[in-house]
Amino acid sequence: MAFADEQNQISACLNVINARAPGFLPKIGIVLGSGLGDLAREVVSPVRIAFSELPGFPIPSASSHAGELILGWLAEVPVAVFAGRGHYYEHGNAREMAVPIATLKALGAQAIILTNAAGSLHASVGPGTPMLITDHIAFTGVNPMIGVPGDKRFVNLVDAYDPGLQALARYAAIQADIHLAEGVYMWFSGPSFETPAEIRFARLAGADAVGMSTVPEVIMARAEGMKVAAFSLITNLAAGMTKQGPSHAETKEEGAKAAATMCALISTFVAVLGATM
Ligand code: HPA
Repeated sequence: MAFADEQNQISACLNVINARAPGFLPKIGIVLGSGLGDLAREVVSPVRIAFSELPGFPIPSASSHAGELILGWLAEVPVAVFAGRGHYYEHGNAREMAVPIATLKALGAQAIILTNAAGSLHASVGPGTPMLITDHIAFTGVNPMIGVPGDKRFVNLVDAYDPGLQALARYAAIQADIHLAEGVYMWFSGPSFETPAEIRFARLAGADAVGMSTVPEVIMARAEGMKVAAFSLITNLAAGMTKQGPSHAETKEEGAKAAATMCALISTFVAVLGATM
């Protein structure tokens, strides 16, 4: 359960949403990461609500994030698309996405699909490759459940990335004829990129990709009892693996280039997953 002020914000959000999209019941929530905003345009019969109209929703500051909740249909499945997200690095708050995630759950969604941009630790898995996240390493020392009262904060993270959803994701990738890498995502706080030494450490620790988001959302979604699937779009090789090093411009550029692939992957996955619900 959330903090009391979050509880009030969730109720207010539900009022706004019910007024704008009466009776709409999303089955799946989708959080769009850096440069992955194109999927928002594929939503059929969209009702668009700016994050600024939803109390407790983050006002994204990253230049590649729009900040809009889009309710509508994707592959004939009712979905709630979060175009934009809040990041820990924006205000040092790991609960940036607490109200959106709890609101999604309150609307009745059973699953959440999280997407992000990430740096790859493997030279053979280069920019433009989608990666299914199979597990994570939270390297920030931060946790969104810190300070939450009661026993719900002790979230079990075994199979946090739902094995059934992973199987459906692999199937969807084959259906869409998309090569899907897979691996462990390591969460760094950002907003500075990692050092080459940190990347060597991440590799030793068992990570396959690094990024600055998603992990707090996974933990909060699991606390809410929603099933989680997560995908990275590899936008670069991690620090120290190339001469120039990573940049936000490159993240956005590679995100835009791979938009069609990511849209096809996610919408095929939504179709496959929706058919099981
Ligand atoms: N590191 C952290 N976050 C990222 C990267 C990276 O190399 N690429 C895209 N997001």
